Amino acid sequence: MTAAASKRISRVPRPDELDPIETASRDEIAALQLERLRWSVRHAYENVPTYRARFDAAGVHPDDLRTLEDLARFPFTTKDDLRAAYPFGLFAVPRERIARIHASSGTTGKPTIVGYTSRDLETWAEVVARSIRAAGGRPGMIVHVAYGYGLFTGGLGAHYGAERLGCTVVPVSGGMTERQVTLIEDLRPDIIMVTPSYMLAILDEFRRQGLDPRASSLAIGIFGAEPWTNAMRAEIEEAFDMHAVDIYGLSEIIGPGVANECVETKDGLHLWEDHFYPEIIDPETGRVLADGERGELVLTTLTKEAMPVIRYRTRDLTRLLPGTARTMRRIEKITGRSDDMIILRGVNVFPSQVEEQILRVGGLAPHYQLVLTRDGRLDAMTVRVEAEPGVAGAEQRAALAQELAQHVKGVIGVSVGVEVVDPGAIERSTGKARRVVDLRAKG
Ligand code: DLL
Repeated sequence: MTAAASKRISRVPRPDELDPIETASRDEIAALQLERLRWSVRHAYENVPTYRARFDAAGVHPDDLRTLEDLARFPFTTKDDLRAAYPFGLFAVPRERIARIHASSGTTGKPTIVGYTSRDLETWAEVVARSIRAAGGRPGMIVHVAYGYGLFTGGLGAHYGAERLGCTVVPVSGGMTERQVTLIEDLRPDIIMVTPSYMLAILDEFRRQGLDPRASSLAIGIFGAEPWTNAMRAEIEEAFDMHAVDIYGLSEIIGPGVANECVETKDGLHLWEDHFYPEIIDPETGRVLADGERGELVLTTLTKEAMPVIRYRTRDLTRLLPGTARTMRRIEKITGRSDDMIILRGVNVFPSQVEEQILRVGGLAPHYQLVLTRDGRLDAMTVRVEAEPGVAGAEQRAALAQELAQHVKGVIGVSVGVEVVDPGAIERSTGKARRVVDLRAKG
């Protein structure tokens, strides 16, 4: 550390700065949830033919919902259900009452469309404002929003939440990395909201311009929209001398702001349970698991008017933990999506596990991709990872490659190839990073 004081100070919010429900007792939260859940399930049943048909077929009716646990009797909703209803089939209000449309970032085919009434937009702004405050944000701070604006929920979701909290918003969106740095230098924002992978591209650009990122004004980063590890948190916090806090959400449920870490503990994300009801299920059997057990997160909206979603299978893997800095329960940092899980010669591997190992090796940069190939009947994985600038010698790189392969073998239990490439050789994303490149022939 230099003589300058660290920017990493966090002021714990006073109770009167929080929404009253953030410090409510578990009983109060459960009572509110049950009341809202009954409304939401009935709203879906009465206004969305798909839900009515599904519930009828499963032999359940909104009147059956007497306790929170009764929700387990209702059928799940999946991404395919949203696709089948494209574009407006799951809306529970007349189209004229829809104030805004967003879409999920599907990589194939048509996007899945979601809609919001003006009341839903208010709710969304409130949960994002609460999220920013949990991250240490306060009215009057400047927020640089580098999540993409448009159909993606990141940009506009962050934007209205920051405005709601009373911040000054700089709506930069993603891309034009050189200009991102100029704006950070000139406007001196306190907070940046961006995907963690794009934050790394911004970090590179600081260095390219010969600027010290630790001397920047940024004191808080609110990162999400993709999995990132605690090792990556440490890397970014150190590089910028800032707090790096996790934000979670998905367009099907509302967008960013379903859950957020509190800066004072950084120990998992408090799920805003007054608006979203969480369950964890065994992804194979669909059975509801107890708090603390790992599985797939299933979410039910409690207050959404335009598009109530009942028991949505997120595919995100995590577990539910008791509250710490707030009474609402937390989800553990998401390890990955079940769709992203690579099964390599029988071993389950998530990109985030490889990321952790990369960050243990000094001399490797946190820019990487996992390339999957098939050699005969055997699947193989090559980790393509950048060397830090200055690590140029072939011998030096071979040693780093060997070190990483050893860590991966030792900790994850699979043999992988490692290719250490030049700085800048891995494609940069201005939004969600593409971690897996699957070159295995299909069929
Ligand atoms: O990514 C919403 C968002 C924007 C969240 C900005 C946070 C910040 P979708 O494009 O619908 O919405 O993608 C949702 O992204 O199911 C997760 O798989 C993943 N995801 C989102 N946040 C996190 C996170 C937005 N903090 C999908 N950690 C989700 C891990 C995340 N994965």
